[in-house]
Amino acid sequence: MSPPGEGSPVSPPVDAAAIAAAVRVLHRGGLVALPTETVYGLAADADNRSAVQAVFAAKGRPADHPLIVHVRDGAAIDAWAREVPQAARTLAARFWPGPLTLVLRRSARAHDGLTGGQDTVGLRCPAHPWARALLEALTQQDPARAVAAPSANSFGRISPSQAAHVRADLGEKPSGKVDLILDGGACPVGIESTIVDLSGDAPRLLRPGSVTREQLQAALGAPVPDADSDAPRAPGRLESHYAPRTPLELVDEGALAARINALRGERLAVLAPARALLDRGAPVIARAIAPSDPVDYARRLYALLHELDAAGAGRILVARPPQGDAWEALHDRLNRAATPASGGERL
Ligand code: TXA
Ligand code: MG
Repeated sequence: MSPPGEGSPVSPPVDAAAIAAAVRVLHRGGLVALPTETVYGLAADADNRSAVQAVFAAKGRPADHPLIVHVRDGAAIDAWAREVPQAARTLAARFWPGPLTLVLRRSARAHDGLTGGQDTVGLRCPAHPWARALLEALTQQDPARAVAAPSANSFGRISPSQAAHVRADLGEKPSGKVDLILDGGACPVGIESTIVDLSGDAPRLLRPGSVTREQLQAALGAPVPDADSDAPRAPGRLESHYAPRTPLELVDEGALAARINALRGERLAVLAPARALLDRGAPVIARAIAPSDPVDYARRLYALLHELDAAGAGRILVARPPQGDAWEALHDRLNRAATPASGGERL
């Protein structure tokens, strides 16, 4: 899952002392901001109900929104889930460790605090060396021990792809909300994991991500359609998420110059391919070049949105990316970040 691309980040070497400190924090029920290959997670010991509750409090997240349980390896699936279908084993064997979350029927260990009271649990085995080191250290006594971790951002805000994003949003104690923020560098994938629901009769895609629909279909030899409305709740699907504070508008690249002109007098920030940013005379106070490769684009998306959001613009214009399987997750995140007035969907 690490295709070549300009600026592929290399994670800094794992800091064993920091990992040991993080494990101590987790053992005593505290919260750790944990680098994963997708985005930073806000981790708590998944078995510790009050620690899990503290995650919801720190994020300001409604209690009925389930958390993802991060496990050391596929052998832990049966500790957290029951009636596991073959398709789940196939996907875990193919994509774990990696940016794929499997929604399965829960076992008794997956308590209501994790699942929002639903009969399912989301499981993921992260690939980032820091996350793996932490799970290795945490599972010395019990191989199925796990951390519950949503993205380490305040509810509804842009997910953090760098430790600095977590520091700026949730912050570290005593002034902030997190006991320990681990800095494992910029997240190499940059957007949240693909989520597949395997709790029903057939696999359904709940959230597109860097493991694409075509990759899932190839692994399963079966179609993986979108979830219908009976699917388990995933707040990422139900409402505006991943949104900058500045209103964001998606515009077809061909219509961008005209839109910028029409908005003369407004302070604009623009994210578009270099070729669409050539008109230096436009009244734009901040501009960022949209990467032409979807892997690079995903890796940089949240950092670019954080940057443009901080520019003091009245509006962020984003050129709609190309179509196609590799771009599906980017369309999903940008649509959610867009405001309704622009025609962007708010689910
Ligand atoms: O890449 C990721 O998935 C990151 C990193 C930290 O692992 N985590 C993440 O967590 O994005 P969060 O909580 O921000 O988003 C998880 C999504 C939510 O939309 C949640 O509703 C959905 O996963 N989810 C978790 N458990 C679920 C379940 N049992 N059924 C349906 N959706 C579930
Ligand atoms: Mg999130």
